[in-house]
Amino acid sequence: MEAPFRVLVVGAGAMGCLLGARFFQAGAQVLLLDVDQAHVAAICERGLELQELNGDRRKVYLRASCVREDPGGPADLVLVMLKSYATARALDLVFPDAMGPQTLFLSLQNGLGNGEILAELVGREKVLVGVTAQGATKEGPGRIRHGGEGPTFFGALSGRRPDTVQAVLALFQEAGLEATYREDIQVLIWEKLLVNVGINAVTALCGIPNGAIADLEPARSVCEAAVREAAAVAQAEGIPVSEDGVHKVLTVARATAANRSSMRQDVEAGRRTEIDAINGAVVRLAGQHGLAVPVNWALTQLVKVKEQSYGGKGVQA
Ligand code: PAF
Repeated sequence: MEAPFRVLVVGAGAMGCLLGARFFQAGAQVLLLDVDQAHVAAICERGLELQELNGDRRKVYLRASCVREDPGGPADLVLVMLKSYATARALDLVFPDAMGPQTLFLSLQNGLGNGEILAELVGREKVLVGVTAQGATKEGPGRIRHGGEGPTFFGALSGRRPDTVQAVLALFQEAGLEATYREDIQVLIWEKLLVNVGINAVTALCGIPNGAIADLEPARSVCEAAVREAAAVAQAEGIPVSEDGVHKVLTVARATAANRSSMRQDVEAGRRTEIDAINGAVVRLAGQHGLAVPVNWALTQLVKVKEQSYGGKGVQA
């Protein structure tokens, strides 16, 4: 009998839980790892409560742990879903024997730089990076809601497709999740970054839903200016992002009109945000190319003021 595909999910927030649950339902052996003790305890005691897109609720009985636990052999896939500022600690909860010569690491995190940080930990050849249009929200410990369906794209950080990537694609397919391997994954990562650059900080600072970015003229102006600056940095980096970047960002804002962006959720919950990997990353790269990005700089500084004003949990982490 063929051994089940073994998956470790590092960072069992809403998206980590959703993907972990789907892989488990497809027959994979899944272990969720997370530092949120209440969340892990709820999943272990009562199972993960998953609210589907149609409103149905189901329990998924996944293994979860907030300490290093032996998954019973090397993982085929380590799915990294941590907040971007925690990527350097991605292996803290991973049992050393869980990383074998064939193990691939897939980051579907927000922002820039996650793959490079993982590469320093496990080697560039093993790292896949990507973006997903799946949406999920954590409603409370052990409870998540699937909020939206969409494709997932990933590619090799090194540019060389690993032989075992086919098995990862097959897993997504068996789990009913649309996924595609892309040679040009950096373009897609930058296009997703432009969305986050334009929506996240403005919605977090103003306390507005995503749709207000398109509807309120002053919010739209700031969004457009931030996205244009970031697109110029992408061009300087040699990343051919599409010409209609601003249009795409406004389309996402309208499509997710009622949503609270992830950064707004972080600010409203008094948590550290991913600003350093989003607008902050644009500022850092712009500096390397001698480009001025005053709007991204101001948004970064203002979100940091916000974090410091509430002493955001993990701001120093
Ligand atoms: O970070 C987020 O909230 C999401 O990536 C997006 C697309 C802005 C929708 O809320």
